[in-house]
Amino acid sequence: MIESLRGFIKPGSEEEALIQKIDFSKLPKHVAVIMDGNGRWAKMRNLPRVEGHKAGLKAVKEIVETCPRMGIKYLTLYAFSKENWKRPQKEVKTLWGLLANYLKKESSVLVKNEFRLNVIGQMEQIPERTKKELVRVMDMTRNYDKFIINLALNYSGRSEIVDAVKKILDTDRIKGNDLNEELFSKYIYTSGIPDPDLLIRTSGELRISNFLLWQIAYSEIWVTPVYWPDFNRRNMIEAILEYQSRERRFGDIKAG
Ligand code: IPE
Ligand code: IPE
Ligand code: MG
Repeated sequence: MIESLRGFIKPGSEEEALIQKIDFSKLPKHVAVIMDGNGRWAKMRNLPRVEGHKAGLKAVKEIVETCPRMGIKYLTLYAFSKENWKRPQKEVKTLWGLLANYLKKESSVLVKNEFRLNVIGQMEQIPERTKKELVRVMDMTRNYDKFIINLALNYSGRSEIVDAVKKILDTDRIKGNDLNEELFSKYIYTSGIPDPDLLIRTSGELRISNFLLWQIAYSEIWVTPVYWPDFNRRNMIEAILEYQSRERRFGDIKAG
């Protein structure tokens, strides 16, 4: 067991047995998660959808606590898509409010642990109170690098690509002939961050929903039927074990 997990995982527990199976030399560097199923989780319990979102924040807390202890360096969480504005205004408003409250409460934990918070997505349209909190926490944590959390907010993979093209055209310096994948990658929201090795989607939906279209070209995809509010440390360990059982060939005929 690695040192950071000692005292965190109960000795003799099922979780501990699962953790023993992890190869810590082959961890995904970057895990991205489509946190889906909050609404259905609530519906199943005859609760309003917002209760699902509240419960979803608890799952976020557990995963944010677990990933760095396991040695994962980057975590990208899909929390609000550009398409999610289509939802009833009341739900949208509550979601942004919950996020602002969460940031108020949890920012000290991020600072204490030296975790960095980063936003990917178009921040301009984010409601003022939430945007203020985001900017505050991003400023406070910008020099930390123990663990990097990318929150995808008002995010759209297609918009990200169009935004990159706009930035490139605005530079004047780059001619069509100069452009290549490496250079293009410098203009997307996740510039400087390695592509996700593992993409998790909860709630069983088999689609990408406009998430990280450029970055997931060779990510391993793992879909679980578990609704996001029920997703826990154990599920994360299962995802990593499944990831480690895959043969990543990148087009070759054997693993590189
Ligand atoms: C994911 O859960 C959270 C957001 C998209 C904000 P949903 O709210 O999409 O839950 P379902 O898919 O309706 O169950
Ligand atoms: C994707 O979930 C967006 C987030 C998890 C933030 P959705 O619930 O919005 O996706 P669809 O509509 O089922 O594709
Ligand atoms: Mg959904």
